Amino acid sequence: MNEQDARKQAVAKAALAYVEDDSIVGVGTGSTADFFIDALAGIKGRIAGAVASSEKTAARLQQHGIRVVELNSVSELTVYVDGADEITEHMAMIKGGGGALTREKIVAAVAQRFVCIADASKLVPVLGKFPLPVEVIPMAQSYVGRQMVKLGGMPRLRQGFSTDNGNLIIDVHGLSIVDPVALESRINNIAGVVTVGLFAQRPADVLLLGGAEGVRTLRRA
Ligand code: 5RP
Repeated sequence: MNEQDARKQAVAKAALAYVEDDSIVGVGTGSTADFFIDALAGIKGRIAGAVASSEKTAARLQQHGIRVVELNSVSELTVYVDGADEITEHMAMIKGGGGALTREKIVAAVAQRFVCIADASKLVPVLGKFPLPVEVIPMAQSYVGRQMVKLGGMPRLRQGFSTDNGNLIIDVHGLSIVDPVALESRINNIAGVVTVGLFAQRPADVLLLGGAEGVRTLRRA
C-alpha cells in the first residue's frame, strides 16, 4: 500500500470512534470512503445498518454483509462519514470527484454530524484548484455550461459518465472560490442544475486529516 492509501486507511479507522452502537451510519463514496466501509465491516455486529450515498457504496457495504437501509426509512442519522476532493480549515468542501455529489449532499443533510476523512493533500487555503463538479439534467448541459463561463469558469463535460440519477457532470475548471457559501446558492439556482459539488452551507463538523505525523482532528469553530 502506498503512503497516501495508508493515510486514507488511518483516517477511515479513526472515524469508527464517531459511530454509535445500534445506529444507522451514513456512508460516503470514493477511495477513502471505501477504506471506511472496510473498517466498518469489523464492527458490523455493533451497528444497525448503513445508508449509502451511491450504488457503488451500497454494493461494497453489501459485499461486507452490512445491511443497507433506504434513507426514506430512516428519521435520523447520528453520523455521515465521507471523503472530499478539497477542504478548507473552515470545513467547506468540493466533492463529487466520484460523481456521487447529489446523494452525498442528501445523506449529509440528514446527518447530525459530518465527519470528513481525508489525507493531508486535500486541505487547501482556497477551493477551486480541483475542478468543481456540477450535476446537470442532460437537456440543460449547454445552458449550464454557458452560465459557468459567465462565472469565470471553464466547463468540461465528464466524458462517458452518467450519475446514479441518470444525469451528467460538468467539471468546472479555473475557479477561485473565495465565498463558497454564496457560490453554492448561485450555482444551485441555475435552471437545470441538480446539485453543485460545493459543500459549504452544510460543511463538515469534524475533519480527520491523515499526514506524516498520523491522524489530526480538526473541528468546526
Ligand atoms: C465522490 C466524492 C469523494 O468523496 C471525493 O471524490 C474524494 O474521493 P477519494 O476519497 O477517492 O479521494 O465526493 O463523489
